[in-house]
Amino acid sequence: MKFVKAVMIGAILTAGAAFAEGDRTDPNAIARSDLMKIVGKNTGILGGMAKGEAAYDAAAAEGAKAALIEAAARIEETFKDQGGADPASEAKPEIWANWEDFLTKAKALGDAAGAMDVASAESIGAGMGALGGACKDCHTTYRVMKQ
Ligand code: HEC
Repeated sequence: MKFVKAVMIGAILTAGAAFAEGDRTDPNAIARSDLMKIVGKNTGILGGMAKGEAAYDAAAAEGAKAALIEAAARIEETFKDQGGADPASEAKPEIWANWEDFLTKAKALGDAAGAMDVASAESIGAGMGALGGACKDCHTTYRVMKQ
């Protein structure tokens, strides 16, 4: 019995993990999520330096800034002509009903990243408000926030 129980618990845990990672099945939804993960990762790199959690690294900061600008520029092609078809997606259907507004918010992200002065941890810190504001401005309207 002990063995059966262990196997069952194992199966439940595995199913849980598979659900958490592979919940999106629509390739469009996966591509959107992947792009946003790049945005999140690079924002985290800059934020870590700004907060002093990571040592300032000029090359890493430049790389994160460039990656954010590039990712913001890819939002249009990555989100274009879709719908919130995948139930696991966090993209609200309002995106496609308000496409121009969504693109304006995507551009605001690219502008905030472009305006970021990455010369020092302090200057990165000074730009984090605008960068974070661009995320929040779009997420509030167009992303399903799961807690
Ligand atoms: C133009 C709109 C827009 C902007 C700007 C934006 N996001 Fe997003 N973000 C979204 C949408 C929509 C989703 C949900 C995508 C989906 O599930 O299809 C999302 C999802 C995410 C996710 C979850 C990715 C995942 O699936 O694990 C992260 C992390 C994220 N965004 C970080 C950021 C950060 C950090 C910023 C700012 C630096 C930002 N985003 C700016 C629209 C935006």
